[in-house]
Amino acid sequence: MTMSELPFDPKSSFSHLPVLLEEVTSSLGTAAGGLFVDATAGGAGHSRAILAASQNVRLIATDRDLTAIETARERLTEFGERAHVAHARFSEIAAVLDEAGCPEVDGILADLGVSSFQLDTAERGMSFRHQGPLDMRMDTSRGETALELIERLDQDELADVIYELGEERSSRRVARCIKQALADGMLNDTIELRRAIVRAVGPRRVGGIDPATRTFQALRMAVNGELSEIQALLKLARTRIKPGGMLAVISFHSLEDRLVKRELQNRATWAPLTKKPIIATEEEQSKNPRSRSAKLRVARRLAPGEGGDA
Ligand SMILES: C[S@@+](CC[C@H](N)C(=O)[O-])C[C@H]1O[C@@H](n2cnc3c(N)ncnc32)[C@H](O)[C@@H]1O
Repeated sequence: MTMSELPFDPKSSFSHLPVLLEEVTSSLGTAAGGLFVDATAGGAGHSRAILAASQNVRLIATDRDLTAIETARERLTEFGERAHVAHARFSEIAAVLDEAGCPEVDGILADLGVSSFQLDTAERGMSFRHQGPLDMRMDTSRGETALELIERLDQDELADVIYELGEERSSRRVARCIKQALADGMLNDTIELRRAIVRAVGPRRVGGIDPATRTFQALRMAVNGELSEIQALLKLARTRIKPGGMLAVISFHSLEDRLVKRELQNRATWAPLTKKPIIATEEEQSKNPRSRSAKLRVARRLAPGEGGDA
């Protein structure tokens, strides 16, 4: 069965176009069968492609987002017992594997960042394009919201977050305007947050991006602990992928990609498939603008003693 023959539920509200689909399945080596983990199940686009590659593939699909988990469960039912779906963030996947009696796997995929569904759902508060609460959590069942984070951090700590995770050069001014808006009772939703940011940096789009893009990214990454979660994922890959198995990670910005790149430079553990990251073809980029910033890095886990120096 090819991907285009797979039945899809067009009525489902969870819309997300998977990126680099062929590149992911071919580089993971799914056609040969085996046990794989999709650590970012989302709308199950990659999960379905992995399972469809061979009758001998089994997949553990995880995500920290409960709506994604519900959607993935529904969209993977046709694969029966070959698919196992679990609610977990990266740092909890080792426990899922232990519970399933699977100490090691043949490959792990992570398609980092947020889904189009999360960005487009106003109630998640991840986008300044929609009016929504200052939440930004991928897992709405636990953890601190963006508003709670802004309330807890002092102005300098907030500026550091905006600088380090958003690479926003005007982070001090942005933090001051956000704290001022909070004190004035003018920080009630995403639109008011954007307004506070624009007050700090001005309304001009720099390099084609909205003035609020960097700060929204920083807050979302802080709320979800995204970088430390990626570190947990890389540790999982190091310890739970069998020698000869594959790790595939798709990242969407330099902070994510830097961590993955650094990990794969450990030549005692990894043999990267390609020197440069794999990017989307022009055709895919024209059909799916999200794919333009996607970078796929794939590496084979080496057996002890097989690799060179770390
Ligand atoms: C880009 S989407 C994945 C889309 C998916 N590959 C598909 O084909 O539909 C990213 C997903 O990863 C999940 N995610 C991001 N960070 C995570 C983490 N640390 N642990 C678990 N899931 C995470 C998000 O909730 C989101 O559903």
